[in-house]
Amino acid sequence: MAEILAIGEAMEQALALLEGGDVVAIPTETVYGLAGDATNGVAVARIFEVKGRPRFNPLIAHVANRAMADRIAGFDPLSAKLAEAFWPGPLTLVLPQRAGNGIHPLVTAGLDTIALRMPRGFGGELIGRLGRPLAAPSANSSGRISGTTAQAVAADLGDRIRLVVDGGPTPIGLESTILKVENGKLRLLRPGGIGAEEIEAVAGAKLSRGAGGIEAPGMLASHYAPGAAMRLNVGKIAEGEALLAFGRNRAEGWERAVALRNLSERGDLREAASNLFAYMQALDRVGAATIAVEPIPVGGLGEAINDRLARAAAPRDKQAWAP
Ligand code: TXA
Ligand code: MG
Repeated sequence: MAEILAIGEAMEQALALLEGGDVVAIPTETVYGLAGDATNGVAVARIFEVKGRPRFNPLIAHVANRAMADRIAGFDPLSAKLAEAFWPGPLTLVLPQRAGNGIHPLVTAGLDTIALRMPRGFGGELIGRLGRPLAAPSANSSGRISGTTAQAVAADLGDRIRLVVDGGPTPIGLESTILKVENGKLRLLRPGGIGAEEIEAVAGAKLSRGAGGIEAPGMLASHYAPGAAMRLNVGKIAEGEALLAFGRNRAEGWERAVALRNLSERGDLREAASNLFAYMQALDRVGAATIAVEPIPVGGLGEAINDRLARAAAPRDKQAWAP
């Protein structure tokens, strides 16, 4: 069972676990977060595994200060103004990523944008001490409501994690508001801890909620899709195909593949998850018309891996994100 430690006593142990690539449940002003080093793919894969999420949706990267945020993403003037007004606090901004920022692609599900937030209190201090951003979705198993007390988090995830940092009940109790500036216009991607009026007062402009009304939490208009076609569960490689492999046994004709990446030689799904986006992108860059993918087992993280591959393989007009 997870140990529950008060914020005053938890810092060193939380740091040690994060340094070791493990995950830790931490309090924030909104809800408890299940945090892992955003630069460590295996740590990020663990987050999905612990939550039992059936798909890889992009996570929020939490930063300690504006300098750390600036190393990760580019700020347009309006986003900078909102960060100035509401950080640290329950505001998440979706921004274009900077190349080479060290963020693992599993955090952003391969997107070239990233959701950033600067939390108040323990979380901010922890990130400052670690010196690296933390990826952190709400600390609850998939399909359950977000944990707002350490006890609720421990009851839900305690058999799968080592440490819950207890900061008492979270003051806001619902997730952060997510905003994105698109062509100079401010879009509300998820309502949350800061009301629209408060944001509009700072921005000096109305929020847009998208063509089809408010997007449901967790919905995304688009996601990473390779330019190449994807062929899944292949037993035999065709001429000119690139191969995304898994495990020790190769599909027939693998020597023909114009490029090959193995998600996990030893058949480890956590390792495979951490390599998934980077390898899809790498094979896509080779320029093959088709990426053939060997079968991936469906258990554990395999469900999310297969879900993502199926989305990448779907006809382009059917790729809109559906929850
Ligand atoms: O209050 C919160 O925001 C909590 C605490 C722990 O900080 N975190 C949280 O994370 O709610 P999560 O992973 O449950 O929600 C992240 C949301 C998802 O709805 C996801 O679709 C959206 O952020 N998101 C992440 N990256 C995005 C991106 N690049 N573009 C659009 N939406 C994105
Ligand atoms: Mg959640």
